[in-house]
Amino acid sequence: MANHQKIIIAIDGFAATGKSSIAKRLSNSLNYIHIDSGSMYRAATLFALRLDSKNNLNPKKIIQSLSEIKIEFKTIEDGQLIFLNNENVSSEIRKPHVTNQVSKLAKIPELRSYLVKLQKEFGRDKGIIMDGRDIGTIVFPEAECKFFLVGNVEVRAKRRYFEQRNKDNKETYEKVLKSLINRDKLDTDRISSPLVKAEDAVKIDVSDLTIDDVYNRMWSHIKKKLNKI
Ligand code: DC
Repeated sequence: MANHQKIIIAIDGFAATGKSSIAKRLSNSLNYIHIDSGSMYRAATLFALRLDSKNNLNPKKIIQSLSEIKIEFKTIEDGQLIFLNNENVSSEIRKPHVTNQVSKLAKIPELRSYLVKLQKEFGRDKGIIMDGRDIGTIVFPEAECKFFLVGNVEVRAKRRYFEQRNKDNKETYEKVLKSLINRDKLDTDRISSPLVKAEDAVKIDVSDLTIDDVYNRMWSHIKKKLNKI
């Protein structure tokens, strides 16, 4: 790609719509940084669970300890690692004990503000693709390119189920579906920064599309944008 001015690309949408995989591919094509903001909420959840020996979430304790949460990313050949206070937690944050608690934590306004501040810092020099739920609305409302991914919940659950079968998380399809339905509800009903489409975001329904189709649609939109600046 020619040497264009760097921009910010925000990808929001429902869980398991392929946001992170596509963002990763786009970031390789553009030579941009990719930040999966969901992994930051997951790392913060792991931190919060460890604050209590019984693995209960205690919002008061979490708010008091925010400044102790240090999150860093390291890019490796086939992806990205996330470090919580210097510990590589990339695998642990994908396990059910974190996944099933993260929405509860993501509704704490103080924690959101803390993470949004870190996310804004990552985007200071532009040249970034960030995916999440509130990137085009709250983190980077000024982003030049915004996408909003939606998809049928059963299609998403099937994809997530097969993805997980190849790893060591062995949840049944029914459990994955139930957890997605629950997370959709928590994401959209949340009072603090609920999942909503930014007015200027391009909406893509991924239900009948392959990852390649979605990537190509986004890529042509980004190219058009870059050619205009
Ligand atoms: O994308 P994910 O499934 O890894 O996200 C984990 C959780 O974090 C999900 O329940 C929604 C929440 N989240 C959020 O509230 N805001 C973001 N920008 C990203 C994720």
